[in-house]
Formats: sequence, C-alpha cells, structure tokens
Amino acid sequence: MKNIALTIPALFLIVACGADKIDQEHAAGKLVWEANCQVCHMPGLAGAPKMGDKEAWTKRKAKGLEALHQSALNGFNEMPARGGKSELTDEEVISAVNYMVAKSTK
Ligand code: HEC
Repeated sequence: MKNIALTIPALFLIVACGADKIDQEHAAGKLVWEANCQVCHMPGLAGAPKMGDKEAWTKRKAKGLEALHQSALNGFNEMPARGGKSELTDEEVISAVNYMVAKSTK
C-alpha cells in the first residue's frame, strides 16, 4: 500500500516534467499546426522551412514575428495563404505560426 501511495505522485511528477512546456503554452496553435501546416512544414515540402530547423527559423524570425504572421495570412511564394485553408481565422493562423516559431528557435 505504501509503495502505491508513493508511486502515483512520482509518476505524475515524471509526466508533468516530461511534457513539453512549449506544447502546453501553445496548445491551441499546436492543434491548428498539426491539422493544417504539418503536411508541408514537417518534411520541408516545396522549400518550406522545417519544424525544428533552428537555423532556418532564426533567419526568418529576424524579419519579425509580425512579418511571419503576414506571410502566413496572405501567402508568401510557395506558401499558400493560411496554408490553403481559407476557413482558418486570423487567430488560428497566428497561433500556429507562434507555435512553429517557438518550437524552432532558441
Ligand atoms: C502547401 C504547403 C504548405 C502549407 C500547407 C503551409 N506552408 Fe507555410 N510555407 C510553405 C513554403 C513552401 C514556405 C517557404 C516560402 C518561401 O520562403 O519562399 C512556407 C513558409 C512559411 C512561413 C515563413 C514565411 C516567411 O515570411 O518567411 C511561415 C510563418 C509559414 N509558412 C507558416 C505556415 C502556417 C502557420 C501554416 C498552416 C496554417 C502553413 N505555413 C502551411 C509551404 C506550406
């Protein structure tokens, strides 16, 4: 009995510490990203900067987060406006950009 009482809080601690802080802070953006942006930004399709590519994203971020929001909303070269999903709201697109940038820069 004593072991179980200790094991449960210990497991909880491990899970809580192991969960990615950025994923928690950007939970809404993560969902939008997974459903609409991942398809190109995971494999780097058509020259899309890859998720987690710190070098590529640090350069892009130097333009300013606002400029990246505008690119995602309005399109940028091969990057379709709103990732091709015109039904996404501005907030959803921006939250997905913020998630991808947070995961991909220091
Ligand atoms: C059809 C493939 C595709 C999808 C889907 C897509 N992207 Fe992109 N994205 C690209 C490509 C390609 C580029 C690189 C464009 C360039 O630099 O010429 C890019 C670039 C970007 C950039 C950098 C723009 C800049 O100014 O440097 C951001 C931010 C971005 N995408 C956000 C998103 C978000 C958010 C979504 C989902 C809502 C998304 N993308 C979905 C292909 C895609």
